[in-house]
Amino acid sequence: MEVVILDDAERVGPVGADAVAQHVRRNPEAVLGLATGSSPLRVYQELAARVRRGELSLARCRAFLLDEYVGLPADHPESYHAVIRRELVDRLDLDDSRVLGPAGLAEDLAAACADYELAIAEAGGIDVQLLGIGTDGHIAFNEPGSSLASRTRIKTLTAQTRRDNARFFGGDPEAVPHHCLTQGVGTILQAGHLVMVALGQAKAEAVHHMVEGAVSAMWPASALQMHPHVTVILDPAAASRLQLADYYREAWAAKPDWQEF
Ligand code: F6R
Repeated sequence: MEVVILDDAERVGPVGADAVAQHVRRNPEAVLGLATGSSPLRVYQELAARVRRGELSLARCRAFLLDEYVGLPADHPESYHAVIRRELVDRLDLDDSRVLGPAGLAEDLAAACADYELAIAEAGGIDVQLLGIGTDGHIAFNEPGSSLASRTRIKTLTAQTRRDNARFFGGDPEAVPHHCLTQGVGTILQAGHLVMVALGQAKAEAVHHMVEGAVSAMWPASALQMHPHVTVILDPAAASRLQLADYYREAWAAKPDWQEF
């Protein structure tokens, strides 16, 4: 696991975009995994800026979302597909038809989850997966107690996550759907490269458990320790509870120019 602690949150965009762009440079048809929420926004802004300047093209990529609320109409501004369209896809040269998310409106949700797994597999798997972390250590919507081998399925959001996400629903936790479809921890662990972004003091405890704690379903993000290629991008506040922070900083400062993510 490469832990990158940036002194300036502004650097999160370029560093995260570099990590994604390296895959697209190697393979213009790379399959991207996209997270919603606030954490990856700077990365998305930077990717959009690079596309605008003609430095990067994602036109031949495909993308899969991590998760989707159950029951939100497709045109609801907070459905994850709508969010990703607004925050990213509309600003890129990537056609929205190449972006797929779990079908949170499907009549048969279990079948929709199985179809989603199949679609990812048929695309050849995800090359680079962006991730954020919940204050309770969730990745995608794999809440504490989730199987570390889980696949895409329906989950119930915790009260904590609904409180955390109420800011997108007029401040009202009751307006946040109770259920979602989410890639499982096992699904996420199959992506080739995981790029996690965590910002702010509220994430510090979860980041500590993810990077330095015991691997446990109580902190689902700790499963990332089992993946051979993970980049964790942090601001100083999110990194503030890391015991080996000095070492991570030294390793980043001494990283050879030729070494990619
Ligand atoms: C979003 C997702 C969630 C978020 C997490 C952090 O697709 O899967 O795991 O990444 O809840 O959210 P933010 O970044 O808003 O703090």
